[in-house]
Amino acid sequence: MRNYIVIGGSSGIGEQLVNLLEAEGSQVTATYHTNICKDRNQVRYIPFDATTDTLDLDSLPSEIHGVAYCPGSINLKPFHRFKESDYVADFKLQVTGAIKVIQQLLPRLKASAEASIVLFSTVAVQQGFSFHSQVALSKGAIEGLTRALAAELAPIIRVNAIAPSLTDTKLAGRLLSSPEKKEHQSKMNPLKKVGEPLDVAKTALFLLTPNSSWITGQILHVDGGVSSVK
Ligand SMILES: NC(=O)c1ccc[n+]([C@@H]2O[C@H](COP(=O)([O-])OP(=O)(O)OC[C@H]3O[C@@H](n4cnc5c(N)ncnc54)[C@H](OP(=O)(O)O)[C@@H]3O)[C@@H](O)[C@H]2O)c1
Repeated sequence: MRNYIVIGGSSGIGEQLVNLLEAEGSQVTATYHTNICKDRNQVRYIPFDATTDTLDLDSLPSEIHGVAYCPGSINLKPFHRFKESDYVADFKLQVTGAIKVIQQLLPRLKASAEASIVLFSTVAVQQGFSFHSQVALSKGAIEGLTRALAAELAPIIRVNAIAPSLTDTKLAGRLLSSPEKKEHQSKMNPLKKVGEPLDVAKTALFLLTPNSSWITGQILHVDGGVSSVK
């Protein structure tokens, strides 16, 4: 039985990833923050705030085959309104939280002999978008961390990140809150479709499991072509 940890497995992409891992027969420990979830068959849920908590290691398996860190934010604003407290808070959620989780789980990931870490970036690192400086800052750090950790933890642990474009989850709610907004966002995408959480979760499943056993240090762009197609 393979053991996976999904930080932020109660909504959006993380929730779909938990469902996919469960369907392929893995044992999953998933965390929730505000959306309280109940345990079921092979999935155990624990409350966790990535900005303040540390994981209760006593409640986790001694051998872990993969961890995905899903918490993120999309705070868009003009650069002149960029406040230190805002970008520090974003950084704490998206980068410091991921670092602390990985550091805590490292001995158990190493214990499994072939483990995988999946992080989340955004299309707004590869491509510049107005008003995206705050999110690009944290996610740029995630991309650097992904490559550096992939080097440091090879050959036992693979480390990759997914860089989605706009995906229809709670996080993107304000940008997709009406049919008009959704249609507008779809038209900006070469595949003329806003991403579904399952589109991205399928890639996370691939990167977490041995199907991607020869892939590390990569940023996979799951973005309907936004980052590379005009
Ligand atoms: N959606 C997009 O358009 C988009 C685009 C580019 C990149 N991304 C990235 O993709 C990743 C997943 O995004 P998503 O759209 O699936 O987000 P989401 O629907 O908001 O889900 C985020 C998950 O993280 C949890 N979470 C939120 N704040 C937390 C905190 N302080 N501590 C611990 N857990 C916390 C949430 O828990 P609760 O639900 O229980 O509160 C939820 O399970 C993020 O890193 C995001 O930056 C998303």
